[in-house]
Amino acid sequence: MGIHFGVDYYPEHWQRDRWETDAELMKEMGLAVVRMAEFSWHKLEPQEGKYDFAWLDDAIDLLGRYGIRTIVGTPTAAPPAWMVNRYLEILPVDREGRVRGFGGRHHDCQSNAVYRGFVRKIVTAMAVHYKDNPNVIGWQPDNELGNSHHDLCMCESCRKNFQGWLEKKYGTVDRLNEAWGNAFWSQEYNEFSEVFTPGITVTGENPSAMLDWKCFCSDLIVDFMKEQTDIIRKYCPNHFITHNYMGFADKVDYYDLGKELDFVSHDQYPGGFFADESHGRGDILASTLDVVRSYKNKNFWIMEQQSGITGWEVMGRAPAPGQLSLWSLQSVAHGADAVVYFRWRVCAMGTEQYWHGILPHSGNPGRRYYELKEMIQKAAPLMEKMEGSMPAPKVGIVYSFRQNYALQIQPQNPNMSYTEQIQEYYRAFYDRQIPVDFVPDDGDFGKYKLLVAPLQYLMNSELEERYFRYVKNGGHLVLTMRTGVKDETNICMTDRELPGRLSELTGSEVLDYDCLRDARVSAVFQNESHTARNWCDIITVKEGAEVLAVYASEFYAGEPCITKNEYGQGCCYYIGTEPDEAFMAALVRYMTDAAGIAALGNADEGVELAAREKADRRWIFAMNHTDRERTYSVDSSYRLVYGEEAGKLNGYEVQILEREDLR
Ligand code: GLA
Ligand code: ZN
Repeated sequence: MGIHFGVDYYPEHWQRDRWETDAELMKEMGLAVVRMAEFSWHKLEPQEGKYDFAWLDDAIDLLGRYGIRTIVGTPTAAPPAWMVNRYLEILPVDREGRVRGFGGRHHDCQSNAVYRGFVRKIVTAMAVHYKDNPNVIGWQPDNELGNSHHDLCMCESCRKNFQGWLEKKYGTVDRLNEAWGNAFWSQEYNEFSEVFTPGITVTGENPSAMLDWKCFCSDLIVDFMKEQTDIIRKYCPNHFITHNYMGFADKVDYYDLGKELDFVSHDQYPGGFFADESHGRGDILASTLDVVRSYKNKNFWIMEQQSGITGWEVMGRAPAPGQLSLWSLQSVAHGADAVVYFRWRVCAMGTEQYWHGILPHSGNPGRRYYELKEMIQKAAPLMEKMEGSMPAPKVGIVYSFRQNYALQIQPQNPNMSYTEQIQEYYRAFYDRQIPVDFVPDDGDFGKYKLLVAPLQYLMNSELEERYFRYVKNGGHLVLTMRTGVKDETNICMTDRELPGRLSELTGSEVLDYDCLRDARVSAVFQNESHTARNWCDIITVKEGAEVLAVYASEFYAGEPCITKNEYGQGCCYYIGTEPDEAFMAALVRYMTDAAGIAALGNADEGVELAAREKADRRWIFAMNHTDRERTYSVDSSYRLVYGEEAGKLNGYEVQILEREDLR
């Protein structure tokens, strides 16, 4: 049987005489894999160049005797004090020029040559040491790369690396000056060595410089990890390499990072970090899992699945009975092939004393242990059957890190957010029980009947061409406000009216617009009155294009707000505003009907349907995210393979249905 469930384990936090009990309990629960060691640099290299892997060997062996395999984490997210004290320059510098100190984690500069030297050495030592260990199956380099690095690092080493990166990209400093528009406010450089990192300024920032800086930071992280994956691949060709992502986190371009991995993993904390407003919201959780799948267009692992209350200094809500199982199976429904829980036992010391694990502080199995054990025992054999199956949506939403960066730098309307808008579109499909893929802008558009591409703010001819081709071949494309505004270096395009060449696809032009500050606009769509926010493109339609909605307030009342244009075999919608929830729902209903996209079934509010399929089989997961009884229905050819009474869900219940004769 394959590996489907596991746990993050920190044996070094507990007495050795407890390890065996842990292994027994894990085995009894049905766990088949642990991830270990990703923060234990000091225990592995207590002094410079003196490695000690004996304790980890013992833990791996002991677990191995219980049939539990190990994923080794490289400990480079937590450089030890001896290193920091001797080589102070490895500490990172923030935007304000302050050195961040020892005491948390990730207190490192990823471009620093001394630090990189230590990283190479420990990763090599570990790879050589574990290459033939039969219980080691894979690796996780570092931990949540990009996390904790928000405004880091702006040290001298990073500055030099940034300059080198720019020189490679632009070749000459004149080209850099032009690409960044440095004529503005006298920002021209004479040499690459004059270029600054974008620390705090007296006033304002250069958007083009900021965009390159964000891309440089992303590339640096990829490079930092690649150095590790190259070493591991060299010595351990039979082990997989994965990394724990954080959904929509944006410090590193996860598509790029994924190229170095066998598959991606993700850390799923539905309770929110310390309970934010997204707590348990099915659509947000589902979109997070779908975007993770998109990073390699492949199934993934959950490397940290919530297993109790989350919290550091303050805590989130306790997952109610059933919720942990629901969230685990939701991960599976969206393409997780294995679910690894964070963490085995809540820690008694350090920062994360209240980030709860499967076991409480006492170490005695309780509610969470028994609930998950029961679920695992029922779900693992099913997951075995599902091996090789994947969600196969007919709707794609284009998701790009560069667009996100550019819109973070200049949101235009302070309430406008790229990822929020993406999630609003997502939610409308989710509410209709229509599965969605995310897709990079160089991805395979052709497999979707409907492709939603919000805020295509930065544009180049290649991407334009891909959109033209998609529609010409029969695709239904959705473009929105703020499309084709900028070129790739974040400078406004001036050769045509908005949205540039794409206006031939949209059948319309935007000659004027309004940034709606603290106001809603009214609009009429299919004789119903709706509201929208943040932005209004005032659209001029060209011949042939159809007006689907018009504004009903402001000085542009009566002007088009949404248009549709037939082109080639397909069509292109243009949405000039950010529709509110009901408006969005009506619009998505219209567009999915027009594209002939069917829902997976019908369900009460709060119930999510999701599917995985392979060959002629499909499994539908029905998941109740509420604490009340709910109902749903799917085609009668599906038979219940997990759960009690098909169609009727208790609070937080999950049912799985199977159909075997799809094609
Ligand atoms: C992240 C990290 C873990 C741990 C948890 C809980 O997801 O990867 O190491 O810190 O959060 O805080
Ligand atoms: Zn640095």
